[in-house]
Amino acid sequence: MRIAMIGTGYVGLVSGACFADLGHDVVCVDIDPRKIEKLERGEIPIYEPGLEEIVSRNVTAGRLSFTTEVSEGVPGADAVFIAVGTPPRPDDGHADLRFVHAAAEGVAAAMTGYTVIVDKSTVPVGTAREVSQIVARTRDASEYDVVSNPEFLREGAAIEDFLKPDRVVVGCRTEKAAAIMQGVYKPLTDQGVPLLITDPESAELIKYAANAFLAVKIGFINEIADVCERTGADVRQVAKGIGMDTRIGPKFLMPGPGYGGSCFPKDTLELVATARKSGAPSRIVEAVVESNDNRKRSMADRVADAMGAPVDGARIAVLGLTFKAETDDMRESPAIDIVAALQDKGANVVVHDPKGMEAAKPFIRDVDWAENAYAALDSADAAVIVTEWSEYRMMDLERVKGLLSKPVLVDLRNLFDPADMKDRGFVYSSVGRPAE
Ligand code: UDX
Repeated sequence: MRIAMIGTGYVGLVSGACFADLGHDVVCVDIDPRKIEKLERGEIPIYEPGLEEIVSRNVTAGRLSFTTEVSEGVPGADAVFIAVGTPPRPDDGHADLRFVHAAAEGVAAAMTGYTVIVDKSTVPVGTAREVSQIVARTRDASEYDVVSNPEFLREGAAIEDFLKPDRVVVGCRTEKAAAIMQGVYKPLTDQGVPLLITDPESAELIKYAANAFLAVKIGFINEIADVCERTGADVRQVAKGIGMDTRIGPKFLMPGPGYGGSCFPKDTLELVATARKSGAPSRIVEAVVESNDNRKRSMADRVADAMGAPVDGARIAVLGLTFKAETDDMRESPAIDIVAALQDKGANVVVHDPKGMEAAKPFIRDVDWAENAYAALDSADAAVIVTEWSEYRMMDLERVKGLLSKPVLVDLRNLFDPADMKDRGFVYSSVGRPAE
């Protein structure tokens, strides 16, 4: 089938490359000529494991191409995906749909025969209807359908999530559009991936409800971790014990410094707004948003607790800046709040991240940037692990201890075993586990 992908950001590029890998002819369109030039040279603007390879394989095979012109990608396409950004508006933090609306106008002007226009960007409930109204200004209803097809891609595992999803959700109103979407996803459904067809509003809400539910799960285990710390329980055992109940499930029960990223913080806020506007506010999601915001900042208190002294004037090494491992994304990363809170308390902060140093610069100021983890630890009074990069897990702990001026390690990702750390002579503080 022929597919056009409008927007070569994270979602657009991953989806476009993966659709090509499934055998479709894909044209990716972006208004930014520099981005398109880079992509044509085989340069990938984001760090995502496996993406570069999949792009180059499909460009070579002639199934994937890039252009700045909507008029090149859209005519003759069976499905045109809108995967442009929906950044939070500076005034109220809600998704700015300007680019979605502009893309809809561009597609309406360029399409030739019947076209399925697919909202791939995460957009508030009712956007498919809005997009349909925009297209209806210049097109007859028989010429198009608007479909909502939310993505559930995790950064760092996006290719796998795309090619082996738990489900594909397609929100549409006509049989004709459903048939085309079934064709688009046939290579996946042939391998047993379930495809759920709903109405567009339900598909839009599924995306927000899924992310909010996962955020609730994380917020919940973080609170349970706090209870564990005060009662002598071990959150790993509690998470395992509750996760064995198939109604709960074992995933997304890892406590940490609070969730960040481009999706959970934004999508929970959007759901809160949608629910309020509908007259049925979500107290649960509101509480999780607040508890997560407080949690990120409060993580800095753990450093002083572990040191047994104020951090004022101390040199603190922060290992890991991105919101999770295997990404260079800094958006809403707990590290931003933790570094700021440590600085507010008078600490001198030295930071390191394997992939996120450049991306971190606009978010983090007045710190020393270390070339590697060991350089960050050199002469620091305490270290805090914020992101679960495997290179931190693999550190030579004897060397770590030798470099730190005091062997204080605050591990917000539970990378090490408390008993082993104690044997090695560390003052080791982790999340939701009794200190040995
Ligand atoms: C998420 C959703 O998983 C994905 O389906 C959606 O499309 C986009 O948002 P992503 O933001 O890439 O993906 O990361 P994810 O792996 O879900 O982690 C989000 C945050 O939650 C990270 O800060 C992570 O560290 C944290 N997290 C996750 C936990 O603290 N504990 C967990 O058990 C899982």
